[in-house]
Amino acid sequence: MTKTFGKVLVFISFIAIILMLAACGNGGGNENASSSDSSNASDSGEEKVLKLATSADFPPFESRTPEGEFEGFDIDLANLIADELGYELNIEDMKFDGLIGSLQSGRVDMVMAGMSMTEERRKNVDFSTEYNRSGEMFISKPDAGINSLEDLKGKTVGVQLGTIQEEGAEKLKDEYGFEVKKLDSANILIQELKSNRIDVGYMDKSVAKGYVKEQGLEGFDDPTTSSPGMGIAFPKGSELVDDVNDVLKKIEENGKLAELKDKWLSEE
Ligand code: ARG
Repeated sequence: MTKTFGKVLVFISFIAIILMLAACGNGGGNENASSSDSSNASDSGEEKVLKLATSADFPPFESRTPEGEFEGFDIDLANLIADELGYELNIEDMKFDGLIGSLQSGRVDMVMAGMSMTEERRKNVDFSTEYNRSGEMFISKPDAGINSLEDLKGKTVGVQLGTIQEEGAEKLKDEYGFEVKKLDSANILIQELKSNRIDVGYMDKSVAKGYVKEQGLEGFDDPTTSSPGMGIAFPKGSELVDDVNDVLKKIEENGKLAELKDKWLSEE
């Protein structure tokens, strides 16, 4: 008798657990559905999040203060855009080389990293309208006597991985007889230059000029390129492109973009 009663109890508990699990499952499902609804709907009162990725090694476009805060032209511009469109901005720092992939995988909504809008990149991402233009420069220590492409013979030229300078250096290296060293970040590039592990750094002019001034380096303009302008990158087909372009147009017209350029890029 007690044995049967025990069996019945086990059976009943079993059914109870199944019912509870089913209820939880349903509840979970509803929760997911409602939370994803509310993240899309602005009337929930919660601010929508705009996920931005950058490579914060590129002053004056993006860098970190000693306290770890993001700062720079791109950061101010991103905040302005997020404000205008009613988003809360969330910034993720990563290697420049990983930025396009982070858009393709849908991990982030947009990338601002002084990124030049090359045809090659256009195959994989969509770009906003152009928001800045910069040439390129070769920089070295002041006593190195490197003032032209011919002087690069036998030297080691450092470039940041995944940049247009990596591509450019690969094209020029045979003609001018130099080695290319690919580095993860622009900060590392400057360190390598200062400690003589590379002879020359090749980078965007707006950034190179800052380092030249700050670190007492020397440089010459790259005579070979007319690099494409910089833009904000999005996953292919992103609906944000038009909204962001509207904001860019608006802040160009009302002078806010010029203000930002004055603040960060006035050395041009
Ligand atoms: N303008 C160059 C490019 O698009 C270099 C950009 C590097 N940006 C950075 N945040 N490190 O390839």
